[in-house]
Amino acid sequence: MATDGLQHQPTAPGSSPVPVMRRKDKEGASWSIDDIPFDLLERDQVQDDERLFYLLASASFIEITSDLYTDMLVDFFRDDDEVVDWLEGSWKKEEMQHGAALKRYVQMAWPDFDWEVVYREFLAAYSQLCTVDQLAASRSLEMASRCVVETGTASFYRMLSEQSREPVLRRLAAEISADEVRHYKHFYRYFRRFQAVEQPGRAAVLRTLWSRTIAIDTQDAFCAFKPLYLYRHPGASFHSRDYAAYRDDVRRMVKSYFPHEMATKMLLKPLQLNAFVGRAVVPAMTSAARLLFL
Ligand SMILES: [Fe+2]
Ligand SMILES: [Fe+2]
Repeated sequence: MATDGLQHQPTAPGSSPVPVMRRKDKEGASWSIDDIPFDLLERDQVQDDERLFYLLASASFIEITSDLYTDMLVDFFRDDDEVVDWLEGSWKKEEMQHGAALKRYVQMAWPDFDWEVVYREFLAAYSQLCTVDQLAASRSLEMASRCVVETGTASFYRMLSEQSREPVLRRLAAEISADEVRHYKHFYRYFRRFQAVEQPGRAAVLRTLWSRTIAIDTQDAFCAFKPLYLYRHPGASFHSRDYAAYRDDVRRMVKSYFPHEMATKMLLKPLQLNAFVGRAVVPAMTSAARLLFL
C-alpha cells in the first residue's frame, strides 16, 4: 500500500512502477505536463516500435489541434453559457495539454523526428477537414457524437496504459484516459439536457454514433498518418494501401488489448438500451468500438 500520497499503477511484466497523483478535484484535471517524469523515460522500450511512434505522433497532432474543433463547438452552442464556459475553460485546455504532453513524449522517445515540420503538413490538411459540416444536425446529436469521440480516446489511452511496458507512457496514458472519461461524463450530461428538449429518435442517435465512429476512422487518423509516413519514407509516394497496412497492424493490437467492455458500455449509454436490446446490439457496437481512433 502506497503511503506517499501517490497511487501506484499495476505494472506490465518487466516494467517499472511510476506513481500517479491522487485526484483531488473531480471537476478538472489534477495533473499538469510538469508532473510527468519525462526524464525517467526508458527509450530502449519504445524507440524501435514503429507502430507506437505512428500512434503517439498522430494522437499528439490531433489533440494539440483541439482549438479548431473547440471554436466550432463554441459557435454551435453559443447561446448556452454553461456549455461554452466548460468548453473554453476546461475541455479545450485539457485536450491541448494532452497534445503538448504527447508531443514532448514523442520528441524525447524519437529525438531524430522533426515534430514541428511534420505537424505543419498535418495542419494544412486537417484544417480543411475541420469545418461546420462535421457537426451533427442538432445539439443533442452533437453531444452524442462527442460521447463517441471521448469513448474512443478514453479506451485508446486505457489500452496504451495497460499494454505498454514503458513506465512514463503508462503514467501519461493513464492520466489522459481519466481526463477523457471525465469529458465523456460532461458531454453525456449535456446530451441528456438537450435530449429532454429535442427528443431525438433512437435511430437518429444510433446513426450519429455510427457515422461519427466511421468519421474518426476515415478522416482524423488518415490525415495524421499520411505526413508521418512520408517523413519516415523520404522520396516514396503515398498509397492508400500504406494506411490500410498500418490500420491492419493496429487492429491486431486492438484485438488483444482494447477495453471492449468499457467502450461498449460508454457507447450504448446514450441509446438508453435495455438489457435485452443491449445484448443484441453489443456485438455490432463492439466491432465499431474496435474501429475507434485507428
Ligand atoms: Fe484528449
Ligand atoms: Fe477528451
